[in-house]
Amino acid sequence: MALPGQSARSLQAAQASPSSSSVDGLELAGRHILLGVTGGVAAYKAAELTRQLIKAGATVRVAMTEAATRFVAPATFQALSGQAVFVDAWDERVPNLMPHIELSREADAMLVAPATADFLAKVVQGRADDLLSTLVLARDCPLLVAPAMNRQMWDNPATQRNVAQLAADGIAVLGPDEGVQACGETGFGRMLEPEVLVEEVIAFFTPKVLAGKKVLLTAGPTFEAIDPVRGITNLSSGRMGYALARAARQAGAEVTLVSGPTGLPCPVGVARIDVTSALEMHGAVLPQAVDADVFIAVAAVADYRPAAPETRKIKKTAAGGEAMSLALVRNPDILSDVAALPRPPYCVGFAAESHDLAQYAESKRIKKNLPLVVGNLIADGFGGDSNRVILFDAAGAHPLDTTRKDGIARAIVARVAAALAS
Ligand code: PMT
Repeated sequence: MALPGQSARSLQAAQASPSSSSVDGLELAGRHILLGVTGGVAAYKAAELTRQLIKAGATVRVAMTEAATRFVAPATFQALSGQAVFVDAWDERVPNLMPHIELSREADAMLVAPATADFLAKVVQGRADDLLSTLVLARDCPLLVAPAMNRQMWDNPATQRNVAQLAADGIAVLGPDEGVQACGETGFGRMLEPEVLVEEVIAFFTPKVLAGKKVLLTAGPTFEAIDPVRGITNLSSGRMGYALARAARQAGAEVTLVSGPTGLPCPVGVARIDVTSALEMHGAVLPQAVDADVFIAVAAVADYRPAAPETRKIKKTAAGGEAMSLALVRNPDILSDVAALPRPPYCVGFAAESHDLAQYAESKRIKKNLPLVVGNLIADGFGGDSNRVILFDAAGAHPLDTTRKDGIARAIVARVAAALAS
């Protein structure tokens, strides 16, 4: 997200960690967001946006235009944010009658969602004829806008000129999305969904330590078919790998995630390639690895697959008795093959062990020629949102304090970025 001319408080200052957040904490803990709501039908989604920003740890104050109050009552935002909502520039609840100064000074960022075509035009012109536009003009924090309008209004050259000017002025323009609109037409102009906007706000505050880098990851289990309905798989949920993909993207990387079968939604802004078996994963990873800067192998890949999967369902009678045996052949080792490329990316391996973690993780690091291995015990790592990991590199073993997978992911991203920088 380019913010070349943010005339207000610098992006660097906005990205500095707030006092109350930690690697393990909520991602917007300690952040104050001033949410502006303008008069479009997508105003109803701003209520959910308020809820989700708060859930991510932010404090939210809401300022609305008069037109926005025709779509959603201020009381809704007051109830959700737990804060007074402001509409009127002459609001007497602010002792010095300067809500346009008071409200913006405590904000780390201002987000206008939805932002109508008219409001964008006003911002471009620097007009200040109501509380919200005055807040925008008087702010000393970064501004993000989420346009929402009919597709013709979005495509109109006047709007496109305005959007280009906003970007040139260092304002982050989030979306819009494409799809069916409230008017029944289809095209660009839908406001981004609240969960996507929250991701963008989190990404906005995340230092771009991987800017310009291509990060490739594997995640989830593989499934090795025995017959059309059965297979060999494992209990990996994909959560650790998806958290890493998300953290890398928030840190500014271009991220490709090669994923085995999981029920997880693709992280915002990440390109996902879905695969089933280890062979498919190998086939998807190797071409991508050639120009990747970082490869993080989180997937729990089956080491073996059935030598000859049946095309028809195997019958109980097929083995002719109580027992049957299955011939298995070795799968290629994806991580080893990437690490052995003539110009390999920075490779991070994972090791899930039931015992002797340090010994096995370190031997994998050396055998596969990896700068970094993340070790976890099977009992801690598979499934769920938490894990307990130890990082192994040439300097030794480094246990991480953080136990949430998203916190672990951010810590690993920081370590990888530091290694690339040195
Ligand atoms: O998905 P979750 O439920 O969140 O769980 C996360 C996890 C426990 C799966 C993850 O943290 C983890 O430990 N992943 C590695 C699992 C493992 O057992 O790896 P391994 O010891 O079989 O392999 C070592 C490394 O080589 C891994 O980076 C693996 O991705 C890679 N490998 C292994 C075999 C193979 N054929 N190709 C590979 O690339």
